Amino acid sequence: KKTVREIDVRGKRVLVRADFNVPLDEDGAIADDTRIRASLPTIRYLCDRDARVILCSHLGRPQGGVVERLRLTLVANRLTALLDQPVVALRDCVGPEVESAVAAMDDGDVVLLENLRFHPEEKKDDPTFAEELASLAEIYVNDAFGASHRAHASVVGVPEHLPAVAGLLLEREIGAFTRILEAPERPFAAVIGGAKVSDKLEVLENIIPRVDALIIGGGMAATFLASQGYGTGASHVETDSLDAVREISAKAMARGVRLLLPRDVVVAERLEAGIPIRTVPATEVPDGLVIADIGPGAADDFSHEIAGSRTVVWNGPMGVFEIPEFAEGTRRVAAALANLRGTTIVGGGSTTDAVVRFGLADQMTHVSTGGGAALTILAGKPLPGVIALDDAGTP
Ligand code: 3PG
Repeated sequence: KKTVREIDVRGKRVLVRADFNVPLDEDGAIADDTRIRASLPTIRYLCDRDARVILCSHLGRPQGGVVERLRLTLVANRLTALLDQPVVALRDCVGPEVESAVAAMDDGDVVLLENLRFHPEEKKDDPTFAEELASLAEIYVNDAFGASHRAHASVVGVPEHLPAVAGLLLEREIGAFTRILEAPERPFAAVIGGAKVSDKLEVLENIIPRVDALIIGGGMAATFLASQGYGTGASHVETDSLDAVREISAKAMARGVRLLLPRDVVVAERLEAGIPIRTVPATEVPDGLVIADIGPGAADDFSHEIAGSRTVVWNGPMGVFEIPEFAEGTRRVAAALANLRGTTIVGGGSTTDAVVRFGLADQMTHVSTGGGAALTILAGKPLPGVIALDDAGTP
């Protein structure tokens, strides 16, 4: 794939699709700027080479109209601080005012277009909207790994009209996942958690033939335990997925993949801070109680398996880590990855949130900025945003 390194950007107007879809706190401030920081290498690269950088992104899920709290001004301010250079937030992403602002840019300037999803045409991949966006620039760079599973105008429509290349973040993300899926150093373990097993079935299918060990935690472990006939108290069991889970377990067994389920779990009456908690064997979850985390025994087993691996990919927390009482399992797994002198890939979404919260992100080989995009790539499915670059031809 061509990247921004292989083209001449000097003095050119470059439209960079980034993923600045950052979490906001209750006051509307940026709760975590990981995604903004991850976009800095590409922006700096372009500025250093005197490109005129036009950034664009979505934020949240506005229903195709302006939502004041989802304006990108906040992101522009954060970028200004991080880059130590002014990043001007424009009030729209297309139209005459945007065109004249872009026309007035000097080499090395950076502007940020307004939230693309204020226009319903973005999600519909409307061709006219894509053309309008494309008309602002001479080169298109996709650096929005986190949005590359969306076939939206700024992701797949714009590259039809411009020379299109990957940014440095997109390159790093794709490289990290491709390496572990195609040529992992062994032993290779996958740690899969999260609330719903139905979200992870395709990922499990795709990784079983590639791994030596499959470690299952999180809310979805309840469905695995139920599939083996154990009681799971009041935990949510996805009955529709029981057969699929049995098949996955059988496939793992047939291939000699070690399948690790939690041997003990933390249970409570409700998933609530301050509530009394208990650790019980996973085979003896009391009626009326829900599984909220893996237990210390399971954390020992999982850590041991991780420590004996050369490559580990992790997607999905082990418990409801947002609540301190139920964070220990996720923290222990994060620590086991952090201590491993091997390749560790953290696969996005809430898993990335957890690793950042525990202050361990710097100790991983790669912490993905993608949620849905990471799941898509781990499921072995192509990313529309990446295909669009392949189809765009050589600049
Ligand atoms: C994400 O947060 O996973 C991406 O930014 C995509 O956002 P979306 O799920 O609203 O399309």
